[in-house]
Amino acid sequence: MILRDAVRVLVNNWDGSYTVPSRRLYPHQWSWDSAFIAIGHARWSPRRARSELLSLFGAQWRDGRVPHIVFNPRVAEGAYFPGPEFWAARAPSGSATSGIVQPPVHALAAWKTHLVEPDPAFLRRIYPRLVAQQDFLRAARRSPEGLISIVHPWESGMDNSPAWDLPLQAVETGVAGFIRRDLDTVSADERPTDRDYERYVGLARAYRDSGYQVPGAFQIEDPLFNTAYGVAESTLAKIADVCGLDPEPHEREAAAITQAMVEHLFDGALFQARDVRTGGLIRSSSAAGLTPLMLPELPAGVADALITTAVDRFAVKDAVLPSYAPDAPEFDAARYWRGPSWTNLTWLVWQGLKERRPDLAATLADAMIGAVSQAGFREYFDPFALRGHGCRDFSWSAALILDVVA
Ligand code: DGY
Repeated sequence: MILRDAVRVLVNNWDGSYTVPSRRLYPHQWSWDSAFIAIGHARWSPRRARSELLSLFGAQWRDGRVPHIVFNPRVAEGAYFPGPEFWAARAPSGSATSGIVQPPVHALAAWKTHLVEPDPAFLRRIYPRLVAQQDFLRAARRSPEGLISIVHPWESGMDNSPAWDLPLQAVETGVAGFIRRDLDTVSADERPTDRDYERYVGLARAYRDSGYQVPGAFQIEDPLFNTAYGVAESTLAKIADVCGLDPEPHEREAAAITQAMVEHLFDGALFQARDVRTGGLIRSSSAAGLTPLMLPELPAGVADALITTAVDRFAVKDAVLPSYAPDAPEFDAARYWRGPSWTNLTWLVWQGLKERRPDLAATLADAMIGAVSQAGFREYFDPFALRGHGCRDFSWSAALILDVVA
């Protein structure tokens, strides 16, 4: 039943070559959504999974960046803010896009698709694009410490995480002249605040006005983004192998980023984000700090410490994974990335626990299935009451359930 319903969500949100995250709230193609959605499609239609990824990479920029939104020209102007007229950017393919990126989880999605239905021709086609995506991050975003930075909270994927409260204080508010469209669909107390949006818009405008070249007042090394980058390298090593290419440079890069993360972002219990402008760690209780469990070469002692934190502070044993530790004062069970449980974040930590602690991984999988069984394929969930929040029929909630139960 749950599987049939999940496929129904994906079929209804399919737009011919890719899947919208949600018909009303997110009516275009989103970068990391497409990766998670492809992982789900692979379980019932690997052809759609390949199409999902190839269509996204069709809008890759010449510098290798994969934009976080690819706009559908058939969607009414003004249906989503900020839309194509705000971003004023075009990919070489002619598609209107945004100019920022999202966590690079796409190599993993391509590999998982190949594992379900081996297709070396697909891997050969997508491999150079995945490499170019990583090349962009190295060229444009790497610090002397060897870590990759993001230049906008939207690039983290966890837009209003309390981890960004402090760095966002350096960003001016008072940006006017825009109308939010998200509140047409979702109640304001489940979304970022107007002050958050003023900062998001101001930061995006400044980056746009520099030709999408110069980072503004927000420059952060985020543990989830760096984990995705590292996992992409270890996955590219496997893909290179299938393509008859040398996996070694990818293995070396994966080891290097893991080491840099342990050295600069680990606080002894959790991975933290680092503010590039001040050089200081931003102490928060974000579940993003657990995702390095996915890194294959994470030292065992570090992984053990993360698992202890997960169990003690993120209730991994008896609730779905909250996006922010419930014992922290900033925790909010309903407001977007300030506490609610998200299927994709839970899936990432689940991946990281599968080999290290199969018992805890099984608990998380059951919790994910329990949440959608109770609340439906909502965008996010109150981690304790399991009440659904955000939009309905959200694609990655459906897609990742297909993967978890497979
Ligand atoms: C949104 O619109 O809330 C997205 O997270 C930005 O990409």
